[in-house]
Amino acid sequence: MDITSLSVFENRCWVNGQWISAQETLEVKNPLDNSILTTVPVLDDVVIEQALLDAEIAQKKWKNVATGERSRLLRNWFDLLIQHQDELATIMTLEQGKPFKEAKGEIAYAASYVEWFSEEAKRAYGDIIPSNATSEILVFKEAVGVCAAITPWNFPAAMITRKVAPALAAGCTILVKPASETPLTALAIAKLAERAGFPAGVFNVLTGSSTRIGQIFTQSPIVKKLSFTGSTETGVKLMAQSAPTIKKLSLELGGNAPVLVFNSANLDQAVQGVMDTKFRNAGQTCVCANRIYVQSEIYDAFIEKLKVKVEALKVGNGLDPDTDIGPLINRKAILKVEEHIQDALSKGAILVAGKTQNSDANWCVPTLVKDVTQDMLCAKEETFGPFAPIFKFENEAQALAMSNDTEFGLASYVFTQDMNQFIRVSRGLEYGMVGVNTGLISNAAAPFGGVKSSGIGREGSKYGLDEYLEIKYVCIGNIS
Ligand code: SIN
Repeated sequence: MDITSLSVFENRCWVNGQWISAQETLEVKNPLDNSILTTVPVLDDVVIEQALLDAEIAQKKWKNVATGERSRLLRNWFDLLIQHQDELATIMTLEQGKPFKEAKGEIAYAASYVEWFSEEAKRAYGDIIPSNATSEILVFKEAVGVCAAITPWNFPAAMITRKVAPALAAGCTILVKPASETPLTALAIAKLAERAGFPAGVFNVLTGSSTRIGQIFTQSPIVKKLSFTGSTETGVKLMAQSAPTIKKLSLELGGNAPVLVFNSANLDQAVQGVMDTKFRNAGQTCVCANRIYVQSEIYDAFIEKLKVKVEALKVGNGLDPDTDIGPLINRKAILKVEEHIQDALSKGAILVAGKTQNSDANWCVPTLVKDVTQDMLCAKEETFGPFAPIFKFENEAQALAMSNDTEFGLASYVFTQDMNQFIRVSRGLEYGMVGVNTGLISNAAAPFGGVKSSGIGREGSKYGLDEYLEIKYVCIGNIS
């Protein structure tokens, strides 16, 4: 497949309404075989600083564009993303590795944020607060200003649109630094934003050194808000770097999602739910099941059913329609999975399906291990790969205690048919999101985000727009 033949292919940066190149470039590789797909620019500091100044000028006009017009442009962009779904998905599969069918799903998911915020653009309502006869309290919602986003490689489209669409809807301008592994999806999306008709400087995609761009974004007083999806370690650094300029922050960081399968669960539903949350994107999502806690009475039956499904997963080239699990993003990712498997086995866990070691390249066989305990590495760290560790528990209190025994608090899942239990457990889980009898919780209409070291802020839903709005209080006094 020649990536350059795709009509949305682009390998230059989109800055202030211009496609720009640079002398220095960065290779973009296909994780399938590490072949070089193309190169993208490494922008220098002067260009990045100028992009910020241009975005500031653009924002002064954009915030005054009628909400109906902002909404219309977002809708145009949504339509184009859907029209080019196959091409965008092909680019994503080539640079990220995920199966084409999943990549298509991600484009639809990414576009759904654009559609959602094209509608929300018209609903940035303020308030009138009752006071007394001689005064009136008004609350205005105003665009935050110039925003910056740093996005990850695991969802090269959706993590961009769920930051960019609310920013544009709110009247902000935004500069995006996509992951160096997956800049081509970002640039293709920008190409469609250009066709949708957004004014120059409103949406920009900058490639280059993550550290340098991160420093410039965080240190600049022009940037009023930073939104980041990625590791907790990097999130902490960006937060510290942003402190001197007091930026608004949205941080969607690491997870360590527990799944609680209770005796009362519908077993088939629970098995399917675990398959969905564990193996989506080959286990490379922040909301992936990381620890699967199963109650003792159904422990063996659950594992038997799960084993059959895990063994049926097809690992292969993402462009092959039968593939369920594509290559992982790089060799480092494979080594992390293997480290977790070997640590668990060395401490007494038992291999049920899969392999303890993978050959060369970036292939990773889905692996299931039982009798895992809280002292093992996989209980503490996010594996970010197709490894499913099963823990046994006896009662609800124990399951909750084990689930909450982590610094992270992004997604969690519960499988039970007991109404009271799902309410009790949902209340008890110290997480930003709880899936009940489902492994799929992502939705543009829902507030996505975590607590504890999993971050701050929410993306999607009506709350996602507020992240790009400031409140201004206007007091009218001495009304006679
Ligand atoms: C993530 O892994 O960060 C996002 C997953 C999702 O939106 O479903």
